[in-house]
Amino acid sequence: MNRILISLPLLLSTFIVNASATPTDNLNFKKTFQSTEGVVTFDHGAHAYGRVKDCSECHSALKTFGNKVNELFAHNFCKACHESYNAPTECSGCHKQ
Ligand code: HEC
Ligand code: HEC
Ligand code: HEC
Repeated sequence: MNRILISLPLLLSTFIVNASATPTDNLNFKKTFQSTEGVVTFDHGAHAYGRVKDCSECHSALKTFGNKVNELFAHNFCKACHESYNAPTECSGCHKQ
């Protein structure tokens, strides 16, 4: 009986550590978008860890765009959040020549 009481929290904490360790590596990527205005580099890791509290803040909106960023999404959704977070909103803040 005592054994079960001791090992259950141990089992649970092992599970939690493993569950959070895997996605961390997958989500630290950068994605570049080519355009006539200049290339845009989106740092997923930086956005997903620290900048934005909740994955769904972006991913529920992105879902309605088939999970792919397009110009409409970038110039409305990305930019709208940048306005409220005091992040780059001018063209050259996102597009680098
Ligand atoms: C600031 C917005 C934003 C936040 C916050 C965010 N993501 Fe993303 N995520 C994106 C964008 C943009 C893409 C790339 C979409 C594309 O391919 O055009 C992406 C792609 C992904 C992918 C696909 C990677 C691949 O190989 O194509 C996964 C998985 C993912 N995100 C998971 C997460 C998780 C989990 C979180 C929270 C910890 C998170 N994202 C937070 C915007 C965000
Ligand atoms: C918040 C970041 C951001 C800002 C600010 C921004 N853009 Fe973009 N823009 C993007 C992203 C990301 C794409 C790529 C979308 C895609 O690949 O479909 C894009 C796409 C474009 C395209 C389409 C290019 C093509 O060749 O198909 C043009 C043109 C463009 N932007 C011009 C501008 C101009 C002009 C401004 C300033 C008035 C501006 N952008 C501001 C992120 C931004
Ligand atoms: C939910 C809020 C939010 C969304 C959505 C968002 N960003 Fe950002 N972004 C930020 C914040 C916060 C910063 C950091 C501002 C600072 O610290 O100067 C930032 C910074 C940036 C920068 C400056 C370079 C860097 O990484 O520091 C680029 C480029 C950028 N974002 C592109 C994008 C693109 C493209 C999208 C859409 C696919 C997007 N962002 C969506 C909040 C957001």
